[in-house]
Amino acid sequence: MSFLELVQRRSSIRSFRPDPVETEKLEQVLEAGRLAPSACNRQPWTFIVVRDEAHRTELGAAYRPEWLRQAPIVIAACCDTRSAWRRSDGKLHGDIDLAIAVDHMTLCAAELGLGTCWVCAFKPDEARRLLGLPEHVEPVVLLPLGYPAEEGQPKNRKPLDEIVRWERF
Ligand SMILES: Cc1cc2nc3c(=O)[nH]c(=O)nc-3n(C[C@H](O)[C@H](O)[C@H](O)COP(=O)(O)O)c2cc1C
Repeated sequence: MSFLELVQRRSSIRSFRPDPVETEKLEQVLEAGRLAPSACNRQPWTFIVVRDEAHRTELGAAYRPEWLRQAPIVIAACCDTRSAWRRSDGKLHGDIDLAIAVDHMTLCAAELGLGTCWVCAFKPDEARRLLGLPEHVEPVVLLPLGYPAEEGQPKNRKPLDEIVRWERF
């Protein structure tokens, strides 16, 4: 499968089979995140793997939809805001770093036949509490990981000529 075919294949999955994910596959997904680039190579991430069923159920307080905790694994991608790189104008780059790492993981998962869905619309305070995060660590993405119980939706994207400009805005 070419890289573009893999990008085509990945889509958000919001229904999961209860089958466990093999440890080897989980490790590959985490490795794909670990290898991601980050601003100044700060690697400000921690990936918290939530597998325990009771703990996943508790995550429902942070994000209500049932399918999140239906997945056998939820990876909480968190950013250490103290170690993330800050540009001269103050812009913190942790979210960008985390997004790259999570995108690596979603693509790796798709290659392994696993489904994922980015989840950012969670209640951050609840996620912090349930994950035991210290003040300087921010929950950025909750990523359910498991075998899909549904087909992904076809891609609906703007055409290139609408999103690409040449030389100037
Ligand atoms: C940063 C980000 C946050 C997202 N947060 C959520 C979310 O909280 N809940 C959800 O169901 N989908 C979420 N999504 C999934 C998007 O809705 C989805 O990626 C988009 O509709 C395109 O569909 P596709 O992933 O199947 O290509 C998020 C995606 C991104 C990139």
